[in-house]
Amino acid sequence: MSSMSSDPSFESRKADHIRLALDPRAQAHGTSGLDRVRLVHEALPELDFAQVDPGVRFFSDRSATPMFVSSMTAGHAASGNLNLIMARVCEKRNWPMGVGSQRRELFDSNASREWTEIRKQVKGARFFGNIGVAQLIRTTTGDIRRLADALEATAMIVHANPLQECLQPEGTPEFAGGLRAIERLARELDRPVMVKETGCGFSGRTLERLNETGVAVVDVSGLGGTHWGRVEGGRSEVGSKLRGAAETYRDWGIGTVDSLLTALRAARRYEVWASGGVRSGLDAAKLAALGAAMVGIAKPVMEAALDGEGALDALLERFEYEFKMALFCTGSRTVAELREGNAWELTK
Ligand SMILES: Cc1cc2nc3c(=O)[nH]c(=O)nc-3n(C[C@H](O)[C@H](O)[C@H](O)COP(=O)(O)O)c2cc1C
Repeated sequence: MSSMSSDPSFESRKADHIRLALDPRAQAHGTSGLDRVRLVHEALPELDFAQVDPGVRFFSDRSATPMFVSSMTAGHAASGNLNLIMARVCEKRNWPMGVGSQRRELFDSNASREWTEIRKQVKGARFFGNIGVAQLIRTTTGDIRRLADALEATAMIVHANPLQECLQPEGTPEFAGGLRAIERLARELDRPVMVKETGCGFSGRTLERLNETGVAVVDVSGLGGTHWGRVEGGRSEVGSKLRGAAETYRDWGIGTVDSLLTALRAARRYEVWASGGVRSGLDAAKLAALGAAMVGIAKPVMEAALDGEGALDALLERFEYEFKMALFCTGSRTVAELREGNAWELTK
């Protein structure tokens, strides 16, 4: 895959993000709340493992399981190959895939070539486009439609990342008018609009307000996995203001489980998805049992994709197996049965 036209600062920022996100110090271990959730074991499931069907509907489509690859990288030298690997494995295993921020495509017409090239090779992949709130506020719906068209996207994701924008030397912490811009996009775009965080979760107040925007989905993407305060902190100079602030905010956010439970209470007009710290098919099953319609995974997917297509395929196969085991061992034939069976308890 050809590289995009070179902008050294953009290229090195994206490479730094991948390297630092994979560093264990960028992970907010133990804060997702997932270790508080236990699925209840059924010694007599009255099922054969082969009868377990983890398939679900999303929008007007079907997916092999409720798991999807959460938005990561796009628009730089290494991203074409990584995205091709992820797209091929997702197509093969019937997982939807969020792509990384398409911001660069707004001002570099070459950047969308990455997707037209990939599309030729993975005609059946289901992609979610991606743009940040701060960019959306300053972009017309026509330009966002262009991003979605380049991908042939099923839906468009708007990501919210106020903490990261504060800690990035080149950040744009300019969110005034964000809700209005989301509402405008949901009204004018010819595809479903989703809103996600990037690892800090959503409060009840924001989740209430999102009812009025017309978005189809909110992915809470809570605290507990990749933490962008920590990632950006790793990029700034030791002793600098931003390095110190990143350290102060290293555990900022709302845990994935708490944010999911709050969202399920608040949501009246959108579906609730979850991500943030999902590190196994069992973690995904816990969030599905609590009520998440779909569950996103980012960092482990990137880590495996860097090791190649075989490694990523093996990872997703393991996640699927673990997810099916959770259905079987709770006596649930389908995800709907897992959800309706109240097959979970909070331990602490
Ligand atoms: C390398 C990397 C790049 C990311 N880039 C984006 C992005 O461009 N847009 C976005 O919405 N989220 C982005 N994210 C955030 C993820 O989609 C996800 O919300 C977050 O990492 C929590 O999931 P995890 O704990 O499984 O990593 C990125 C995550 C990683 C690891």
